[in-house]
Amino acid sequence: MTEPSAQPPTAQRIEEIARSATAELDSLENLEAVDQWRISYLGRRGTLTTVLRALSSLDVDERRTIGALANEAKNTLEDRLEQRVRHINEAALTRSASQNRLDVTLPGRPSKAGRLHPTTQIVREICSAFVAMGFGVVEGPEVEWEHYNFEMLNIPKGHPARDMWNTLWVDYEDPSGEQAMLLRTHTSPMQARVMESREPPIRVVVPGKCYRYEATDATHEWHFYQVEGLAVGEGITFADLKGTLYEFAHRLFGEERQIRFRCDYFPFVEPGVDMSIDCFACQGQGGGCRICRDSGWIEILGAGMVHPKVLEKVGYDKDRYTGFAFGMGPERIAMLKYGIDDIRHFYANDLRFLRQF
Ligand code: DAH
Repeated sequence: MTEPSAQPPTAQRIEEIARSATAELDSLENLEAVDQWRISYLGRRGTLTTVLRALSSLDVDERRTIGALANEAKNTLEDRLEQRVRHINEAALTRSASQNRLDVTLPGRPSKAGRLHPTTQIVREICSAFVAMGFGVVEGPEVEWEHYNFEMLNIPKGHPARDMWNTLWVDYEDPSGEQAMLLRTHTSPMQARVMESREPPIRVVVPGKCYRYEATDATHEWHFYQVEGLAVGEGITFADLKGTLYEFAHRLFGEERQIRFRCDYFPFVEPGVDMSIDCFACQGQGGGCRICRDSGWIEILGAGMVHPKVLEKVGYDKDRYTGFAFGMGPERIAMLKYGIDDIRHFYANDLRFLRQF
C-alpha cells in the first residue's frame, strides 16, 4: 500500500500509484479487503485523493495536464473496483452452487395434509343422502329466540315438554320484553323459519350445532350437532316419511338394513315416532351385544308428521298441506357406524382419535 504523499504531483507519480493500486486490487479475494483498498486509494485521505487535492499547488498549465491524468487514473481505479467486486461475488456464487448441489434423488419430505373433522364428514354424508332424494340444505342461527325454539313448535311457556330440553339461556333483554334468547337446544326451530320464509313444496335438511345445559357422559355432550329434516306439500303422508327414512338408513348403514318405527312424543309432530335400524353388529342375534344391548334394534332418530298447529302458526293452510319432519344426532350416527364408545372423543381434540377418520 502506498503512503499518502505530500510531494507535488507528477505524471510519473500518478502512473506509479495507478499501477501499484491495480496490481494490489487484482490480488484481493474478498469484499472486506477490497473495501480497505478503496479507502486507502480513493477514500477521503486515500493516496490518489491526496494527489488530486495537491493539484492546486501547480501552475495552470501543469494543473491542466496532470489534473487530466489524475482524473483518468481515478476513473480507471473506480471501474476496476466495480469489476473486482462483481468478480468476487460471481466466484462466491459459483462456489456455493457447486458445494450445495441439489440432490434430486433424495426422497421428499411428506407434507402433512389436514382432514375434515369426523362430525363434518358424517354430517356431509347424511346431507348428501337427502340431497340425492331432492332435499336442499339450509342453516340457521345457533343463538335463537325462545319463540322459534319453543313457541312456534307447539311448546308454549309452562308446557311440561320444555323439560325435555335443558336450556342454556342468553342474558339479553328483549326491548319489547316479550322474547327470551337462548342457545338452540335443537335444529327444529329452523322448521318454522323455513316455512315462514317460503311456500310449499318444501324439502330441506338443516345441519347445525345445538346446546344443552347437561352433565356430560359417554352419550351426552353439552354441545353437539343435529340434522333436521322437513318436507311439506300437498298429499304428503306417513308412507312418504317411511320411504324417505328407509332409503336414508340403507344409504348410511347398508342395503340389508331393516327399520322399525315406534310411537314417541314430540310436541311438534303428530303422530310422533322414533326410528330404529336392526343391529348391524349382532344381526339381531343378541348374545351380549354391546351396540344394541341385546334388543336387536338401535334407535337412530325421531320423526313424525308435522303437527297441524305448527302449520297454522307459520300461516299455512293445514287442510291443504301436510308434511313430515325428522331429527337426528350425527355424532350418534358416527358412533354407531364406526364403533366409537364415547361422544366426548369428538370434541376433546385428541389427534390420536381424530386422525382415525
Ligand atoms: N328436535 C328433537 C330433539 O331434539 C328431534 C326431533 C324429533 C326432530 C322429531 C324432529 C322430529 O323434526 O320430527 O330431540
